[in-house]
Order: sequence, then C-alpha cells, then structure tokens
Amino acid sequence: MLPAPPRLDPVVAAALPPYAGDPLRFLTQVAAEGDVVGYRFGEEERVLVSDPAAVHEVLTAWPEESRWTPITRAAAPMLGDGLILAVAPNWRPRRLVVQRELTYRAVRRFAETIVGNTERTVRGWLAEERLDLQAALGRLTLVNLGDTVFGSDFDDFTDTLLQTLRASQVAIDAAVAGRFDAGERAALDRATAELDVVVQRLVAQRLVEPTTGEDLLAVLVRALESGDPAFSRSWLRDEAVMLITAGHETTAFTTTMALHTLAHEPDTAARLRTELVDALDRGVAPAQLADEVPLTRHVVQETLRLFPPLPALHRTAVADVELDGHLIEAGTLVVVSPYVLQRDPRSWPVPERFDPDRFSEGRRRELPRHAYLPFGAGSRICAGNHFALLEAALIVALVTLETDLEAVGHPPRLVDSGTALRADGPVPVRVRATASREGAVA
Ligand code: HEM
Repeated sequence: MLPAPPRLDPVVAAALPPYAGDPLRFLTQVAAEGDVVGYRFGEEERVLVSDPAAVHEVLTAWPEESRWTPITRAAAPMLGDGLILAVAPNWRPRRLVVQRELTYRAVRRFAETIVGNTERTVRGWLAEERLDLQAALGRLTLVNLGDTVFGSDFDDFTDTLLQTLRASQVAIDAAVAGRFDAGERAALDRATAELDVVVQRLVAQRLVEPTTGEDLLAVLVRALESGDPAFSRSWLRDEAVMLITAGHETTAFTTTMALHTLAHEPDTAARLRTELVDALDRGVAPAQLADEVPLTRHVVQETLRLFPPLPALHRTAVADVELDGHLIEAGTLVVVSPYVLQRDPRSWPVPERFDPDRFSEGRRRELPRHAYLPFGAGSRICAGNHFALLEAALIVALVTLETDLEAVGHPPRLVDSGTALRADGPVPVRVRATASREGAVA
C-alpha cells in the first residue's frame, strides 16, 4: 500500500492561511516540506507537486478529464467549449485550426502590426512622461490582439473589454480561493453577458464580411463554413472569448514585469539597447528584432521564469494514482506551480537573480528538464506561446530602444489571485526618450 503524501505540518498551515496573505509564499513553503505535499484548503484536500518529473507526468500523461476542477467548472459558463476546456472528440480538430495559425513561423505575419501599434503607443508615452506600465501595456496588448487575432479595431470597446475581463477574473479567482458564492456567480454572469455583446458583434460582423483575411477569426469562420461538425456557431463564440481571455492579461503582465525589471537592471537594459541599435544600423527591420537580437527573447524567457503569469495549474486525480511513491486519491485537486518550480534552487542556480543569459545558446544545455513551464506542457501546452513570445519580445525591444524607463515609488506587490499573477495596483514609471534615439520616433 502506497503512503499518502505527507500532510503539511498543521502549525505551518495555520500560520500561512492560503490566499489570505501571500499565496506564492504559501505555495513555496508547502513545497519546502517535500515534492508531493498534501494540505487542507478550506474543506478541500489539495496536493502540491514540485518534483519536475512528477509534474511532467501530471501535465502530459493524465487523462484530459483531469482538467475538470472547481476552477474550470466556475469558468465554464464564460469560456464555454473554447479550447481551454474542450475535450475529445472536438478538442483535436479545434486545436489544429488554432495551432496552424499560431506556429512560430505563422505568427511572424503579425510582427509589422505589433511594431506599428507599439511605436504609436510609445509616442504617446513620451508625451506623458509618467505612466502606469501595467495599465498602458494592458491596453496595448488588447489593441494588438484585436488587430492581429481578430482583424478588428478594438478601439471602440477597449474599456468595456478591460472592465469585463477584470470582473470575470475577480469571480474566477474567488472560485480558486474556494469562495465562489451566489454573488460571485452573479458577477461572473454579468461580465459574461457584457463580454458576449462585444464578441457577438465581432463574430456577426465577420459572418457577413468576406473571410479571406489572415487573422485568426477569419480562419475560424472558414472552419465553421467547412461544415465539419466539430465547428458550430456557439463554438465560434466560445473560441473568440477564449482567445480574448487567454491572450491578453498574460502578455500584458509579462511585458510589464520585463520592462519594470529592466528599469532596475540598467546594465542589462543598456546592453540590450546597444544590441538593438547595432541591429537597426545593420539594416535589420524593426519587425525582425525579436529574431535578430536573441537577448530580447532571453529577457522575456527569464521574465516568464521569475514571474509566470499563470503561477499555478490545477488538475483533478480522476482515479487513485501513484505519484512519486505516494498515493493520490481520486478526486484530489493537484496543484502544479510554475512559480515554485522556476524558483527552485535545485534546478536554478541563484534563482532570485534576473539572468537572461541562462537562456543563451551557450548555456542552453544547463537548463533543467521539466522545471520551466510558463506555458504548461504536453499536448495542452499554450496554443498562443509563439504569438505571446513574439509580441512580448517586440514590445520589450521597441520600448527599450526608444525610452529610458525609471521605476518610481515602491516596487509593485505581486498578488497571485489563484489563477493569475499580477501587480496589486499601478506600476508607475517615469519615461524619457533614450539619448541614442531622441527624435527617432517621428
Ligand atoms: C505570456 C503569455 C501566456 C502565458 C504565460 C500562457 C500560459 C498558458 C498556460 C500555462 C496554458 C496551459 C494551462 C494548463 O495546462 O492548465 C495555456 C493554455 C492556452 N493558452 Fe496561453 N498563455 C499565454 C498567452 C496566450 C495567448 C497570446 C494565446 C492566444 C492568442 C493563448 C492561448 C491559449 C490557449 C488556446 C490555451 C489552451 C490550449 C489547449 O488546451 O489546447 N495563450 N496558456
């Protein structure tokens, strides 16, 4: 008979009420007790798994029904049958449609648009001098998503989308924290209804327009028109909602933390700027900077290591299962934390240090196996990872080229709502044009 995972010392657990104080610290402390540790969360037994091989097994080998958790159940009315929650037999054909359009190569068609939007945004920043990085990048990434994935100008409803996304996030966070009551349900229903108005408008517009565009929505409409039963009108709505919710805040947070960290790391920022200016002087087009200046990508990858936008992933054990020599009982909620894994000193030397060169070609072999999971793993790995990496790298490149950011006030306090990491409040920075590029942003 296999032993159950060791239970977290009740004294430690009591001193660290989960999600009331600092959930990331809480998860880190749970992990310090062992690689597979049980803890009580309200009425619920949860198990945190922190051994890289066991984590890999959970994410890649567990059946897809393991994705059904209290969190996905809470989000289901909003996300419907979009990719994140879809299961067989529909998941595979739907995933293929999205994935084909978001491969490493395919997303390069969006680079020019992202560059144009970012340059326009940076011009606005220079006029303002001081701004809230998190809010500004939230707007920019939403505009990028509209122009690229949706082929639509989101200008008219950016504010509505930002508000409804925030409201839905608050409600889903409540589900993670085990307090999804009638009030939270009503709030989520309201946010869903508001989001639906925008999404139905986008979809309806697309259904009457010619669908020859290169954006993802056009591709989804063509899939619907193909007559394949995996694609229906309600699927189109669900996938559109899913793309907005999955593809916006994650990238906004990544770019916020990358740029804020660079503001504290002037040597790395200066090195990056020099490499970018050299590339432009060699005739590299701005849209190529993410590919031609590897440090840009390494800054983003290191940011995702230290600040994974989804710091905890959840699965349910669908049957009694052995994990790392322990018995996990059917029905247990299993938590895997990219945040914990990516700061584990057993895998990452000096884990707290921001060191983008960890991801450089020369050191790639030193990267630990299965201990870097900002996009998850296995067949359900993030479908937008190439898009997110390209967008984040281009934003970091262009903002670093054109501006010198100075962090003002206290460092942002990071909060893990349970589903997403974010700064608790504004992330104020002072903006100046860089000396080398003054006047370059015309
Ligand atoms: C830095 C930005 C992003 C991060 C860190 C991120 C992270 C993740 C993670 C960890 C998962 C897997 C969740 C799990 O296994 O439980 C996921 C799934 C997914 N993400 Fe992302 N994501 C990002 C951006 C995007 C973007 C930009 C899009 C779309 C445009 C997107 C679309 C998706 C989809 C469709 C899935 C579900 C895939 C499936 O189940 O087949 N994500 N993401």
